[in-house]
Amino acid sequence: MAAFWAWSKISSKFLLLCFLFSGLLSMLCFAADPYDTDEFVYSYKTLSPLGVPQQVIVVNDQFPGPLVRVTTNYNLVINVKNKLDEDLLVNWEGIQMRHNSWEDGVRGTNCPIPPGWNFTYKFQVKDQIGSFFYHPSINFQRASGGVGPIIVDNRTIIPLPFNKPDGDIDIMIGDWYTRDHKALRADLEARKDLGMPDGVLINGKGPYRYNETLVPAGLAYEKIMVDPGKTYRFRVHNIGISTSLNFRIQNHNLLLAETEGFYTSQTNFTTFDIHVGQSYSFLVTMDQNASTDYYIVASARFVNESLWQRVTGVAILHYSNSKGDATGPLPDPPNDFYDKTWSLNQARSVRQNGSASGARPNPQGSFHYGNINVSDTYIIQSLPPTTIRGKRRATLNGISFVNPATPIRLADWKDVKGDYKVDFPSRPLTGRPRMDTSIINGTFKGFAEIIFQNNDTVMQSFHIDGFSFYVVGMDYGVWTNDSRGSYNKWDAVARCTIQVFPGGWTAVYVYLDNEGAWNIRTENLDRWYLGQETYIRLVNPEDKTTEYPAPDNVMYCGALAGLQKYVP
Ligand SMILES: *[C@@H]1O[C@H](CO)[C@@H](O)[C@H](O)[C@H]1NC(C)=O
Ligand SMILES: *[C@@H]1O[C@H](CO)[C@@H](O)[C@H](O)[C@H]1NC(C)=O
Ligand SMILES: *[C@@H]1O[C@H](CO)[C@@H](O)[C@H](O)[C@H]1NC(C)=O
Ligand SMILES: *[C@@H]1O[C@H](CO)[C@@H](O)[C@H](O)[C@H]1NC(C)=O
Ligand SMILES: *[C@@H]1O[C@H](CO)[C@@H](O)[C@H](O)[C@H]1NC(C)=O
Ligand SMILES: *[C@@H]1O[C@H](CO)[C@@H](O)[C@H](O)[C@H]1NC(C)=O
Ligand SMILES: *[C@@H]1O[C@H](CO)[C@@H](O)[C@H](O)[C@H]1NC(C)=O
Ligand SMILES: *[C@@H]1O[C@H](CO)[C@@H](O)[C@H](O)[C@H]1NC(C)=O
Ligand SMILES: *[C@@H]1O[C@H](CO)[C@@H](O)[C@H](O)[C@H]1NC(C)=O
Ligand SMILES: *[C@@H]1O[C@H](CO)[C@@H](O)[C@H](O)[C@H]1NC(C)=O
Ligand SMILES: *[C@@H]1O[C@H](CO)[C@@H](O)[C@H](O)[C@H]1NC(C)=O
Repeated sequence: MAAFWAWSKISSKFLLLCFLFSGLLSMLCFAADPYDTDEFVYSYKTLSPLGVPQQVIVVNDQFPGPLVRVTTNYNLVINVKNKLDEDLLVNWEGIQMRHNSWEDGVRGTNCPIPPGWNFTYKFQVKDQIGSFFYHPSINFQRASGGVGPIIVDNRTIIPLPFNKPDGDIDIMIGDWYTRDHKALRADLEARKDLGMPDGVLINGKGPYRYNETLVPAGLAYEKIMVDPGKTYRFRVHNIGISTSLNFRIQNHNLLLAETEGFYTSQTNFTTFDIHVGQSYSFLVTMDQNASTDYYIVASARFVNESLWQRVTGVAILHYSNSKGDATGPLPDPPNDFYDKTWSLNQARSVRQNGSASGARPNPQGSFHYGNINVSDTYIIQSLPPTTIRGKRRATLNGISFVNPATPIRLADWKDVKGDYKVDFPSRPLTGRPRMDTSIINGTFKGFAEIIFQNNDTVMQSFHIDGFSFYVVGMDYGVWTNDSRGSYNKWDAVARCTIQVFPGGWTAVYVYLDNEGAWNIRTENLDRWYLGQETYIRLVNPEDKTTEYPAPDNVMYCGALAGLQKYVP
């Protein structure tokens, strides 16, 4: 840690940024780390990405939203203005918000921003490097947009484990419906499935017309301009609703280099599966002859391709010396409808590059993660949606999460009783599923083993706010104690969003050193909406002041709504 502060002092301008916290007589100042301020206006706009006019959510009039790009350890001050007609919260996915769940932007820890109001998020991207994204976290809004990329750059003093790329290219891929988030929400409330998406967007645009039968005329498509011979860092995010996507670039290798803030062992792939909520960096060299443009494809995974043909995103890679349009069929997807081991093996092959200098020293100090004793084991099981008290709900360990009226940390701070329970079970409950505000009482500085067991029928990805975790195991079947024998205790990758195959499990290790209350959720928007989430609350039993106090602009709601002073 000491070395880190020294680096930050050498490399950054001496700027002083102070946050004045209410309830604190002194000011907390983050010396030496520069800041970046932004203003984000969330509003609606009518666009027709798939040829059908619909209301989408734009950020500063952009769809997808603008890039947030800073160097590690910067302080970000982002004033979010809500010009939607309903509540908004923005989650900064993958940003760890050290000691600061007040800024995390999820409903369990933050009051929503009412329409017409604004909230200024203030947080530091502490000891992190890599590719992340922001998104609206409530009301199913991500299905209408409001998403944008975040890049946290290395400082010069921490070199990249590869040659500096000639450019960065952000690619947001995701399944898309021509119904907006309100209509989709209404379907879920009416106990319906959402059905097959209407397409896949790449950077907010519909498919290139690679086939005149399948793609209507007149759609705007994404065209990526590149120069021959150069190497670009493609940062690809699946920001969709529920569809796993296979990503590929015709005739080009994808050299996997980073995922969600950690450098991977660099490996070439021709196609790569990216699940909802996941982010990857690929180094792609423009080593082809440019006789034509090339297709960039994101196609639905684990589905019947002939039925799901239109659920395919197609963009164009255009060399500056290109001699013509891309023509002919798209590059082939993996052909494994009946055999998902290829995808599982690909996921397992993503390993950490142990010799690459990361953003952050090993949180366990001198211990290698594989040698640390596990303090707690949680098995978190997802089941398909069911009916609870007449509503369609989805559960984790038999509990469908209900957001607290008063956000958890706010309730703790102001001593609101009965707001939530810390009885989330460490094993799946048998018996009747229930709806509850049940969270995990975590062991501060414990080293937890969390097993996500997916007994749902769909592919899922799970995410934990506030942490990165080591992905130690992944397989089909039901996890047992013996499954530990297969764990990767040597070079498991660290990241924050991991896929869990239907009928399978994924095990992660996480060092619980971040005070606050942190969301654990499925990234599949419909399942999340139906209650597949919980929180883990961590309190430093020795020194309660290590967590940041509530910021001066904290918003109040629920039992504390009367304390809210701000009037727009
Ligand atoms: C709303 O924006 C103003 C500046 O325009 C800022 O002073 C205020 O703190 C913001 N409100 C909240 C709740 O962050
Ligand atoms: C990141 O490291 C590379 C060297 O590997 C350096 O060229 C680059 O300037 C660094 N990035 C920043 C933002 O300092
Ligand atoms: C790992 O990182 C090192 C050091 O930055 C780099 O030289 C090496 O190529 C990387 N190896 C792989 C397999 O990614
Ligand atoms: C376009 O797609 C249709 C439907 O899959 C297929 O029958 C046809 O052969 C394709 N056309 C071309 C030119 O590939
Ligand atoms: C990856 O493929 C590129 C060609 O596209 C090649 O130049 C490079 O050496 C390969 N790297 C590895 C680590 O296999
Ligand atoms: C360019 O590359 C393509 C695909 O590798 C190949 O089919 C074609 O013959 C090449 N054209 C020239 C002019 O080299
Ligand atoms: C995919 O769907 C088509 C059309 O319904 C059907 O003919 C075909 O058998 C299906 N393929 C598989 C692999 O199930
Ligand atoms: C783990 O537990 C074993 C047995 O209790 C102990 O010998 C070992 O030192 C512990 N390892 C660490 C890293 O604490
Ligand atoms: C949570 O766990 C800690 C010990 O880790 C314990 O001291 C505390 O009482 C627990 N809180 C509740 C509400 O159960
Ligand atoms: C979960 O799935 C496994 C494997 O399909 C099955 O054996 C088990 O009974 C399922 N458990 C529940 C609670 O559905
Ligand atoms: C699995 O291990 C735990 C302790 O780690 C033990 O309590 C439990 O009984 C074991 N379960 C089985 C089925 O062996």
